[in-house]
Amino acid sequence: MTRTRITIVGAGNVGATAAHIAAAANLADIVLLDIVPGLAEGKALDIAQAAPLQSFNCRITGTTDWEMTAESTVVVITSGLPRKPGMSRDDLLAKNVQIVKSVSEKIVQYSPQSIIIVVCNPLDAMTYTAAKVTGFAKSKVVGMAGALDTARFSHFLATEIGVSPCDVNCVLMGGHGDDMVPLPRFTSVSGTPLTELLGSDRIAQIVERTRKGGIEIVNLLGFSAYYAPAAGVAKMAEAILKDSKITLPCCAYCKDQYNAGGYFIGVPVVLGKNGVEKIIELDLNESEKALFEKSLSHVKELAAKVDKLL
Ligand code: NAI
Ligand code: 2OP
Repeated sequence: MTRTRITIVGAGNVGATAAHIAAAANLADIVLLDIVPGLAEGKALDIAQAAPLQSFNCRITGTTDWEMTAESTVVVITSGLPRKPGMSRDDLLAKNVQIVKSVSEKIVQYSPQSIIIVVCNPLDAMTYTAAKVTGFAKSKVVGMAGALDTARFSHFLATEIGVSPCDVNCVLMGGHGDDMVPLPRFTSVSGTPLTELLGSDRIAQIVERTRKGGIEIVNLLGFSAYYAPAAGVAKMAEAILKDSKITLPCCAYCKDQYNAGGYFIGVPVVLGKNGVEKIIELDLNESEKALFEKSLSHVKELAAKVDKLL
C-alpha cells in the first residue's frame, strides 16, 4: 500500500517546525526538502529521533533530491526569504517569486496531483505565482495566512477577556498584510458576539495589534515568526489529508465571490481532500466591503508585479 506523503519545501524555521508538528500528529510520512545540503537531512533526523519520546511512527526523510518527493498528496512551499526588521513582506517579492517559480516547476514534475499550501511572503502574490506556474486547478493551490492571523486575533482577545483562546471564534479576510481585515462583527466567544464583550475602542486596538502581529515578532526576534505559522500549516494539511472540511480563512482563488475578479486573497473557506471545496460568502456591510476592497487593490498590485517578473 502506498503511504500518504507530505512534502515540505524549505527546512528553515517554518518548514522544519511544521514537519515536527505534522510528524507528532502522525499526519503522514514527511519529506523535508531544502536546497542547502545537509540541512533537511539533519533536521529530519533530529525530528525522527523525537518519535519514541512523542509516540509517533510516520517516516520523516530529509533531502535535496526532488525524486524523494514524488507523488506527494500535499506539498507545502516554505522556501523563501523571510523578512528582517525594517522590511515589509512586499520587499521579499522579487527574490521569492523566482524561488516559488522554480519550486512550482518541480511540483508539476514530481507531484502533479498534489494540493499546494503556499507559505512564502508576500503570501497572496506567492500563492498567485504557484497557481500560475503550475497551472493546477485553482482550488488545489491555497495560501496559509488566515489561520495564523485569526490565531493571533484569538490570542489577543482571549488574553484581554480572560477566556480560553479555543473558545474565541474569529473571522478575518483580505491579504496577508497590514491592510488585512479582521471582522469583529463576525467574531464570537462561546457564542456571545465579541461586540457585546468589549468596547469598540478596545476592539479597534486589538484589531490593529493583529494587523501588525507579524512585525511585532520580527522586531522582538530579528527574524520572523514560525511556531504559530507552522501550526497553521499543519492545521491546513490535516484538514486536507483527513478531509475534515473545517472552515478556516485561507488565501483562495475568488472570481465572483466578494467581486474579487479572479485573484487569490484571504477568505473563509471549507478545506477538504479536494483543497478549497467552498468559499463562504459573508454578508459584509459597507465599511467591511470597503476595507476588503482596499486590501484587494493591494493584492492586485502585487499580482501585476509578479506578472512582470515571470
Ligand atoms: P527560513 O529562512 O528559516 O527558511 C527558508 C528555507 O528555504 C531555507 O532553509 C532555505 O535554504 C530554503 N530555500 C530557499 N530556496 C530554496 C529552494 N529553491 N528550494 C528549497 N529550499 C529553499 O525562513 P522561514 O522563517 O521558514 O520563512 C519562510 C517563508 O515563509 C518566508 O518567505 C516568510 O516570510 C514566510 N512566512 C509566511 C508566513 C505566513 O503567514 N504566510 C508566516 C511565517 C513566514
Ligand atoms: C508573519 O505574519 C512573517 O508573515 C509572517 O509572521
